[in-house]
Amino acid sequence: MYILGIESSCDETAASVVIDGKTIVSNIVASQIDLHAKYGGVFPELASRAHVEAIGAVVEQAVDDAGISFDKLDAIAVTRGPGLVGSLLVGMNYAKGLALTSGKPLLGINHLEGHVYSLWLTEPGREIRFPVLVLIVSGGHTELILMEGHGEYQRLGGTLDDAAGEAFDKVGRLLGLPFPGGPNIERTAQMGNAAAYRFPRSKRDESYDFSFSGLKTAVMREVTVQPVVEPGKKRPPEKNPKLRSDISVNDVAASFQDALVTALVEKTVRAAREYGVTEILMAGGVSANQTLRQRMRAESDLPVRYPPLHLCTDNAAMIAAAGYYRFQAGLRDTLELDVRSTWPLTSSAY
Ligand code: KG4
Ligand code: ZN
Repeated sequence: MYILGIESSCDETAASVVIDGKTIVSNIVASQIDLHAKYGGVFPELASRAHVEAIGAVVEQAVDDAGISFDKLDAIAVTRGPGLVGSLLVGMNYAKGLALTSGKPLLGINHLEGHVYSLWLTEPGREIRFPVLVLIVSGGHTELILMEGHGEYQRLGGTLDDAAGEAFDKVGRLLGLPFPGGPNIERTAQMGNAAAYRFPRSKRDESYDFSFSGLKTAVMREVTVQPVVEPGKKRPPEKNPKLRSDISVNDVAASFQDALVTALVEKTVRAAREYGVTEILMAGGVSANQTLRQRMRAESDLPVRYPPLHLCTDNAAMIAAAGYYRFQAGLRDTLELDVRSTWPLTSSAY
């Protein structure tokens, strides 16, 4: 079964054709990173405009590269949310147009479910036995999910404030590194000493929730010039904090990454034990991080799996793969389907 996937929830315009939820026959990603880099983050208006400009060519190329005619497709899967509304609407309207003119079924996909199914694309020959624990770590989300079957999700916890990727991006900006912060902090950290600074380790409690804003604030206090506060007066807000000249950016990057990874690994490994899962799966942009991968493997006695680098960050192959399982479950969406800027991954998403 051939499914066309379309993804436009954030700053990547992507389209892909996947056979039976496993085999990628084409995978096109038009990234807007250069467009947003000068703003240090994703600029929503610019993102939607860039999606409008790119989407037609991206979808056409995905079908072309697949070496099939459009008629051969069995269904069209598109990201319905969560994400930026303006960006989501571009993909959704394009997919609806295709579904309307061709009469092919439309499948609205939760972007987080897409990240989960990137794991089914990686080793098509290898079966994954449920239950599994999934750690989704991206720019917008940090979710710990127990998956007991296709489309069956139980959310065990998640971030209470900043997402893991968001923390990487904010600390990267603070340290003057280029956007996105994650890969640049990882690169810088390789030259640093992770024990040089002792930053707080997120929430150390019985829950499966995370909190990274305290970590970000601790880094900020450590590395920026602190204003002098007169006795009895409140601290003025730091608008453009200046980096101290005596800090080592490499050491800060390594110590920050170590603190964040420690929190993710500790709770994921504990949840895996408590719920008796067969494997730990990681997905989303931050799962590209080598320190996270190595530490999770070292500290868990279960198999740990993650997608190849190009499937960790946003792509449409994962949307097509999730679409396949939705299609197999007999689910179809109508042309009235709306987009959802926030949409937790629960079984009702199915
Ligand atoms: O999954 P993704 O492409 O988009 C969202 O759905 O948000 O994730 C993007 C996030 C960014 O915050 C980026 O800094 C982070 O993933 N990221 C990384 C790495 N590569 C990307 N974080 C840490 N280490 C990396 N190697
Ligand atoms: Zn994503």
